[in-house]
Amino acid sequence: VDTPVMGQLRVRTNGALGVDRSTGRIIGVAEQTELSSAELVSSWVGQIVHSEAIESISLTADQFLMPGLIDTHTHAPQFAFLGIGHDLPLMDWLNKYTFKHESEFKDADLARRFYKDVIARIVRNGVTFAAYYGTIHLESNRVLAQTIRQIGQRAYVGKVCMDANSPAYYSESTEDSLRDTEEFIRQVIGDDETQQRLVTPIVTPRFVPTCSHECLEGLGALAEKYQLPIQSHLCENPSEIEFAKSCFPDSPSYAHIYHKYGLLNSRTIMAHCVHLSDSEIALMRESKASVSHCPNSNFSLGSGIADIRRFIDEGIPVGLGTDVGGGYTPSILDAMRMAAAANRALIAFRRDSGGDQPARSSKDKPLEAAEALFLATQGGARVMGMDEQLGSLDTNKLFDAIVVDMNAPNSPVPSVDATPAVRDADSPDEAWRLRLEQFVFLADDRNISRVYVGGKLIHSV
Ligand code: GUN
Ligand code: FE
Repeated sequence: VDTPVMGQLRVRTNGALGVDRSTGRIIGVAEQTELSSAELVSSWVGQIVHSEAIESISLTADQFLMPGLIDTHTHAPQFAFLGIGHDLPLMDWLNKYTFKHESEFKDADLARRFYKDVIARIVRNGVTFAAYYGTIHLESNRVLAQTIRQIGQRAYVGKVCMDANSPAYYSESTEDSLRDTEEFIRQVIGDDETQQRLVTPIVTPRFVPTCSHECLEGLGALAEKYQLPIQSHLCENPSEIEFAKSCFPDSPSYAHIYHKYGLLNSRTIMAHCVHLSDSEIALMRESKASVSHCPNSNFSLGSGIADIRRFIDEGIPVGLGTDVGGGYTPSILDAMRMAAAANRALIAFRRDSGGDQPARSSKDKPLEAAEALFLATQGGARVMGMDEQLGSLDTNKLFDAIVVDMNAPNSPVPSVDATPAVRDADSPDEAWRLRLEQFVFLADDRNISRVYVGGKLIHSV
């Protein structure tokens, strides 16, 4: 099951998929086939391959294979206060909980004790690729990157930069921020110089309010020098936007500040984008930057609702983010259903505030399960700049995938027999469409029975 195109669910039944363990790539996909695995593999590689050379894995009728889930925005240290402070707006939440908890990672032993369970939990949720924020601390960030590599997840990891307007107990000088960022980049690349590098450094100014001009300028230069991805926060909350603009009064907008310093380009992931102006949307589009949509966080911190239909219509890539701990769960399944709820809420708000007009533009179309699935897979891959390598189950792509078991022990998804709409559906396509809706709205980590990254099994139950 996959969604190579937004809105199109592709289900290949009675099929088979082959992976070359040495490259971690998909070598072929078949559907409705009666061939043996040795015959299939031989046809894919163009030479006879004997069955002893092949490890075959079969799925039950309740299981399916799909691309791994991609979290385009999360904060590893913020698992330390998960579920706390959701009655506060962003800036108060940062000052009361976030900076305090993150500052404790100046002790790298805490990182060694803490990050293993965090990453294992994210992997258990079917996340094969995530964009992480660490903290400002060089050593703890290296521990985070090493932990991810040991567990075998694919990741972008960023050393958070904050040299302005930050509390004394959690800030750094401009020099330290830039020097440690470059040192972190060198360490992460140096720790794994293989072609199949799993962990890549990402340039990470926390957001405009905590970064000086010099810091932003230096980070833009580092992103250019090493051709690295970039991540930050943009237009999340009205007070934050005011704060950002007050730091750079000459800039036409918040987004223009990142742009001015070379931090808004085709390798950039901007989280939230709840309150972008028209000119900022145009700048995002022209710069080819991407949006990480974090609906749980946007609800939980009362930030607002991002109009992702509009971004998508304008050609801006959109993926999903959990934004732990602004969001209270590392589940991308939750992000899918929250994205659907956010979209419905926005449509209802427009209807109720503008008289009861019928839905007209695609902006007023509810998000379907298959579209949510796209955002969590192929859409996320695009945001991460990896859409040719990841996101769907196609030949030559890296095999980052999960096995879903809809009938797992204690599954929150009812069986097909207990779901007349699916059991008695008019066609197999319709049955799959409904089953996928149940997956998106009901499933959780109990339903993720295996997780593969680059062809390697990194989690199973
Ligand atoms: N803006 C700056 N830092 C943060 C953060 O840690 N979380 C969220 N949601 N927004 C931010
Ligand atoms: Fe965030």
